[in-house]
Amino acid sequence: MTGHIPALSKPVIALLQPRPGGIVVDATLGAGGHARLLLEAIQPGGRLLAIDRDPAAVAGGRIQLSGFEPPATVVRGDFGDLDHIARSHGFAQVDAVLFDLGVSSMQLDDPARGFSFRGEGPLDMRMDPDNPVTAAQLANQLPERELAGLIRRLGEERWAARIAGFIVKRRPLRTTRDLAAAVEAAVPRAAWPRDIHPATRTFQALRMSVNDELGSLGNGLKSALSILTPGGRMAAISFHSLEDRTVKTFFIAESKDCVCPPQQPVCTCAHRASLRIVTRRPVLPDEEEIRANPRARSARLRVAERI
Ligand SMILES: C[S@@+](CC[C@H](N)C(=O)[O-])C[C@H]1O[C@@H](n2cnc3c(N)ncnc32)[C@H](O)[C@@H]1O
Repeated sequence: MTGHIPALSKPVIALLQPRPGGIVVDATLGAGGHARLLLEAIQPGGRLLAIDRDPAAVAGGRIQLSGFEPPATVVRGDFGDLDHIARSHGFAQVDAVLFDLGVSSMQLDDPARGFSFRGEGPLDMRMDPDNPVTAAQLANQLPERELAGLIRRLGEERWAARIAGFIVKRRPLRTTRDLAAAVEAAVPRAAWPRDIHPATRTFQALRMSVNDELGSLGNGLKSALSILTPGGRMAAISFHSLEDRTVKTFFIAESKDCVCPPQQPVCTCAHRASLRIVTRRPVLPDEEEIRANPRARSARLRVAERI
């Protein structure tokens, strides 16, 4: 098992601008790499709230972030409930919020968590082990058309219908290897992607559905906006296009005074801009970072400031 190297950590700190005495939230604690950098930057006197829905990350984070005064507040929860979590822990107004989306290397590299087609494990994929839905349930119980739709939508996989057909024929699927083998059999060899494993998109789709990742992200962004002080900043690191589009669309909508449909002649929405976009284009890792941390290669950072 390898440790998790925080992606884009230099631009995250440069653009979030944590200051001594600042109040900041890391909504995706993971292995605590970003959280620790934030905590160091807000010394002396700053306060950090770190959240993760994975109890293993929370347990590790309590150790990784120990030794600061005041101590970091480490909470198990879904960042979709960020405003409630923050308010109930004394973080009603904050200067910065970070979302580093997706799964950590610890989750990905532990076969028992069932996130990866490398190594064999149960078809699980839950970040929160108390989540009632597993990847095995989706793969084995969804009607074929629904399964195909899910893989097409969340995996952006053009072979979705064929993959769903193969999954249904091979039911019950129990392990990550069973799922990877079904996808390998479904996608013709000549159509296998050159740079990723053919099952990558299918695994991504099931994982996103199991953990309702886009739903949590939408709620998390709104929540973050509601607790940021004017001049405070939020940053989101995405690892694939659906996440990045969700962040970009949210930032654009919240940076406009009117969100009425363009064909409407008179504004009726009464919407007022609450964000200023700091990164017109997403910040990407440079070659040096990709060499040192290949998992960062698809990372995209977007930052916006509360008006
Ligand atoms: C990419 S890792 C974060 C790594 C971290 N920035 C670091 O430096 O180690 C993402 C983490 O966010 C957590 N996570 C993902 N979605 C979440 C959600 N909706 N609520 C809370 N935690 C979530 C995952 O469990 C995982 O531990």
